[in-house]
Amino acid sequence: MTPSSPSGAQIVLGLETSCDETAAAVVRREADGSVSVLSSIIASQIAAHAPFGGVVPEIAARAHVESIDSIAAQALAEAGVGFEALTGVAATAGPGLVGGVMVGLSFGKAIALARSLPLVAVNHLEGHAVSARLAAEVDYPFLLLLVSGGHCQLLSVDGIGACRRLGSTIDDAAGEAFDKIAKTLGLPYPGGPALEALAATGDASRFELPRMLLGRKDLSFSFSGLKTAAARLAEGLTTDAERADLAATVQAAIASQLAERSDRAMAAYALAHEGRGLRFVVAGGVAANKAVRARLQAVAEARGFSFTAPPLAYCTDNAAMIALAGAERLALGISDPLDAAARPRWPLDEAAASANPTHAPGRKGAKA
Ligand code: KG4
Ligand code: ZN
Repeated sequence: MTPSSPSGAQIVLGLETSCDETAAAVVRREADGSVSVLSSIIASQIAAHAPFGGVVPEIAARAHVESIDSIAAQALAEAGVGFEALTGVAATAGPGLVGGVMVGLSFGKAIALARSLPLVAVNHLEGHAVSARLAAEVDYPFLLLLVSGGHCQLLSVDGIGACRRLGSTIDDAAGEAFDKIAKTLGLPYPGGPALEALAATGDASRFELPRMLLGRKDLSFSFSGLKTAAARLAEGLTTDAERADLAATVQAAIASQLAERSDRAMAAYALAHEGRGLRFVVAGGVAANKAVRARLQAVAEARGFSFTAPPLAYCTDNAAMIALAGAERLALGISDPLDAAARPRWPLDEAAASANPTHAPGRKGAKA
């Protein structure tokens, strides 16, 4: 049996250090499944990486080491709880930049050991998968589009530890495409939000961009052709108005592809789940994009699915989602040993990933 508070609630400290955000949060999950976020602290390293136009792993790992203890202390203070009130510690154990992952995971292990608390080594993607449940009641099962800087996949989520991958990107992740195209438009890192801001004044019908994998009927995504075409167009642009038009065109093209594949997935999912509640959830950093959200919401409504996207603060990386994934695991009696490994790659659906890998081992690209 894992411990719980006298009321049967789980009160979990979550730690997230897999990329360029050092984050800690305290989440309380009642025995009936209801959730309250007691605190969620995020220290962004954007300023440290901006001069390099992207995340530098060594800089990220050092910055995590420097701030993890004060961020965790802030999370506990803001939540108004001490270590003695906690029922567990949850830390991201991958996938991600392994130097950073090791910082948060080691810190979590130290707390677990010193305070005799159970440790949960959380898959970062499972954190994104449960993120919509931080602020809304979303029961399992649901169809999930996970779109972030490292991932772009459709998953059938039957519950904690029960995710089936239905399709994923064959090259870049959607957030990666936003970031790389933003760079060719001369926008600062991180590119996604900057490109969305520029697109606001643009005309999305001005340029033609290729529609990727048009002939394929599966649930794969591809963004590399779009990236190359956009980079070529960007070279010839001279005015800010033209750049805004290209940004709007790119954003619409990415949103279209996400909507098209999600629509196809919903059609199949609805057949397999006939008569049951149909739920569609979008999560990950790209879910912060308003044009993407609007397209996906329209598709979900047309297919008779409920639509849930986390509040913006829970779309991008945060520790509340890691704490909740941990709390849900602890409620099921699941925890991990203190020698749990940090994993640079860790697909949510390991069976699908080994049967049909999106990348050969060692190659750069989508982490799952
Ligand atoms: O989930 P996340 O914080 O980190 C990963 O686990 O990858 O996602 C970060 C990604 C970046 O590629 C960023 O550019 C993208 O999400 N992103 C956006 C927006 N906000 C963040 N992309 C498009 N529009 C946005 N508003
Ligand atoms: Zn993430």
